[in-house]
Amino acid sequence: MFDSGFGGLTVARAFLDLLPGEDLVYVGDTGRYPYGPRPLEEVAGFAHEIARFLVDEHDVKLLVVACNTAAAAALDELRDELDVPVMGVIEPGVRSLVRATETGRVSVIGTVGTVRSGAYQHAVAGTGAPVALTIAACPGFVEFVERGETESDQVHVLAERLLAPVVEAKVDALLLGCTHYPYLARTITDVVGRDVVLVSSADETAFEALDLLAIGDVVRPASPGRRGAPTFLSSGDPTRFAELGGQLLGPELGHAGSVPWAR
Ligand code: DGL
Repeated sequence: MFDSGFGGLTVARAFLDLLPGEDLVYVGDTGRYPYGPRPLEEVAGFAHEIARFLVDEHDVKLLVVACNTAAAAALDELRDELDVPVMGVIEPGVRSLVRATETGRVSVIGTVGTVRSGAYQHAVAGTGAPVALTIAACPGFVEFVERGETESDQVHVLAERLLAPVVEAKVDALLLGCTHYPYLARTITDVVGRDVVLVSSADETAFEALDLLAIGDVVRPASPGRRGAPTFLSSGDPTRFAELGGQLLGPELGHAGSVPWAR
């Protein structure tokens, strides 16, 4: 599994809970975050490099692109290129979103790259669900999370400005279309109101992974004496990754290593 940084840990948490017997390998590309403002071709290049590393060096049996921006940039190409199943977070999130709405007015928020790619507009239309979609980019949100600043006055002020179109559209379900955003859930709810259901792709992605592994008959169950051993790797400072990552994910992230292209 990989992300530009700490965001994919929201997906990793769901995997650790639902698939406790598996040996999760997580790469946070913190040395090159944020992905959101970069051209999609550049993000696709990073995604290919990380995917190859996980397949070649860690022999993964399933690859999860736990980053919406990278999934928007490279999911189809990775599926064509790799011999292991590859899944993203966009389609699972959209499935949860259309299930969650009662009024049919829904919203997706994400990075500039994700919103500009059209991936969510396409995925929502692909469900055939009769929904009206309001989509908004939230530049700056990822940087607050990467600094460990999830509830400051500054992030609240930014959220009020960026989420104004969502409030205006009177949606009843809001998909957090960036894996960093669940860490801002309190701030986002303060702005959009408690009546709006916040939808994260993490749980649905983990359930889809379980289905894929079960179809391939390669699920590794946990037993009372054996749980999987997660590995966390960063392309930035691994000590800081373990510190903030441990606060965000929980005790499973006690230590982080480096990837070969680390700064
Ligand atoms: N977590 C990534 C996503 O889901 C954030 C991308 C970024 O680094 O800007 O899009």
